Amino acid sequence: MSATQKQKAAERAAEDVVSGMKLGIGTGSTAEFFVKALGQRVRAGLDVVGVPTSERTRELAEEEGIPLSTLDELGTLDLTVDGADEIGPELALIKGGGGALLREKIVAAASKRMIVIADESKTVETLGAFPLPIEVNPFGLGATRIAVEGVLRDLGLPTDIRLRGGDEHPFVTDGGHYILDAHLKAIPDPSGLAEKLVAIPGVVEHGLFIGLAQKAYVATSDSVKTLDK
Ligand code: A5P
Repeated sequence: MSATQKQKAAERAAEDVVSGMKLGIGTGSTAEFFVKALGQRVRAGLDVVGVPTSERTRELAEEEGIPLSTLDELGTLDLTVDGADEIGPELALIKGGGGALLREKIVAAASKRMIVIADESKTVETLGAFPLPIEVNPFGLGATRIAVEGVLRDLGLPTDIRLRGGDEHPFVTDGGHYILDAHLKAIPDPSGLAEKLVAIPGVVEHGLFIGLAQKAYVATSDSVKTLDK
């Protein structure tokens, strides 16, 4: 994990932004570099409007002087730039390490294009070493947990699920939900798992982003690589 690499990838993505764009603005340490690079360009005259994917990003974007709006006002976006916890084949992603997966997915799905920014440690052959965040409604948590375990068991995956923050002080998302982190080690069929998770009523969203990203800028020690879907 390298802050310099994250910054390089973020700055490369900021170069792709042109005046007039409606932008989705991601969450996390890599996305923060993007917000700063975008802020610099806005102060130099770039005319864009952004929709932040978290309250944290909203605060930073405001500090940077980036004009903000909402999906209610804009409806659709031209481009979303966001980080990822893992980037797998076909640019399938695991996201939500920072807890913003629901807003991140709504914003990415409302965008014509999504660019992922990351350092090289994020690229993987198979998704799943990073625990998969599953955002759940606090109501019925115990039942939802059993249903998620059932899905994992049916797919032959480990059933090691942990409530983020622990039972005493669960982490609460911007949407008021909890997160179950599923320690799966490897997800051989991300689409199959995604389909089964969304069918559970208490599951609000999961961190598998499939078919949403078209491009990734992945920084190595000496360059920024472009990965296309
Ligand atoms: C936030 O919920 C996440 O999806 C982040 O995009 C992801 O965790 C990547 O974060 P970093 O850029 O901090 O590694």
